Amino acid sequence: MASHHFIYFLVMVSLMVTNTSAHKACHPDDLKGLIDFKSCIHTDTSGRLSKWKGQDCCNWPGISCNSKTNRVVEINLPGYYLDGDDESPRSVSSTMSGTISASISLLTSLEVLDLNKLVGLTGQIPHSIGALKNLKQLTLETNQISGAIPESLCTNLTSLTILRLENNHLTGGIPESIGNLQALQKLSLSNNSLTGKIPFSITKLKSIISILLDQNQLVGEIQLPLVPGQWPSIQHLSLANNRLTGVIPNSIGYLTTLTTFSVSNNQLTGSIPSSLGNLKELQILKVNNNSLSVELSSCICGLTELSVLHISHNKIQGPLPGCVSSFKYLLEKEVDVSFKRTAVLPTGWH
Ligand SMILES: *[C@@H]1O[C@H](CO)[C@@H](O)[C@H](O)[C@H]1NC(C)=O
Ligand SMILES: *[C@@H]1O[C@H](CO)[C@@H](O)[C@H](O)[C@H]1NC(C)=O
Ligand SMILES: *[C@@H]1O[C@H](CO)[C@@H](O)[C@H](O)[C@H]1NC(C)=O
Repeated sequence: MASHHFIYFLVMVSLMVTNTSAHKACHPDDLKGLIDFKSCIHTDTSGRLSKWKGQDCCNWPGISCNSKTNRVVEINLPGYYLDGDDESPRSVSSTMSGTISASISLLTSLEVLDLNKLVGLTGQIPHSIGALKNLKQLTLETNQISGAIPESLCTNLTSLTILRLENNHLTGGIPESIGNLQALQKLSLSNNSLTGKIPFSITKLKSIISILLDQNQLVGEIQLPLVPGQWPSIQHLSLANNRLTGVIPNSIGYLTTLTTFSVSNNQLTGSIPSSLGNLKELQILKVNNNSLSVELSSCICGLTELSVLHISHNKIQGPLPGCVSSFKYLLEKEVDVSFKRTAVLPTGWH
């Protein structure tokens, strides 16, 4: 091959490389949305955002695009993450401070927005988030986000499967429209300052696996589906540390897939319904510190998977039914009863 042919070949290759990578630009709306996002973050101890340069936003740290449409589908910028090559990954802990830009709504193909444990995000969840109709996962947990949960989030984001907003400073009520989120599997709003009642529409979340509303200031009654089969996959229900009143509904017995039920530190009254005995998968039962009355009947004998049983600080009288001593996962230290233990713990305790 003549040498000028080879040089021609090299020039062509270098032109192609320049065309396909160095000058490749992502979608202008995604680019603008991300530039605005960056401009609202004042500090980023991880240095990831300082690498957001040029036009090819699909190659920026924390950004993923759909290979066919070239649209941004993921923003993954968690506070804890693995960095370095696959051979020697190192775990990095970082913080970001600033707010979430309303221009986030320009990223209309976004499916994942994960800004968990950045600690320093403040301000509100922008109302414009309701434009992100493809969003499947919204994770803003462990920041300093305040204000209300936007109505537009519950009305429009019907593809959401994961909504994690715990450990923030959210106020106001849980929107009644939350029942629209028919694909939702995980809902965590724990440790905020949410007020008002648990909306009844929550009973319509047919895909739900986990509902964590503990550590808020919720009032009113526990809302559970009134007929069987409405929460066919429910595993975790935590409503502890609120100001809930009323009784534990009999319909708790329909939630046969439940493994955790926690309503500690509320103002619940009435007796523990015997239908609780239907929850054969239950591992954690915490009803301590309410005003529940009447003895713990033998309904508890069916709960053979129990590993944690907290019933202290109620009006429940002992003794524990003797069957409890045969529960193979239940350790004495995980039994919290306020009646006199020595007299009531079944013989043969392990
Ligand atoms: C929510 O969806 C409606 C109907 O598609 C749309 O008109 C509205 O602008 C959306 N809300 C936001 C905040 O984008
Ligand atoms: C509650 O959230 C705040 C704010 O993020 C956090 O500082 C605190 O540690 C959380 N508390 C618990 C018990 O998780
Ligand atoms: C019981 O719950 C109340 C709030 O409802 C709380 O103030 C109190 O400290 C709790 N008591 C115990 C023993 O946990």
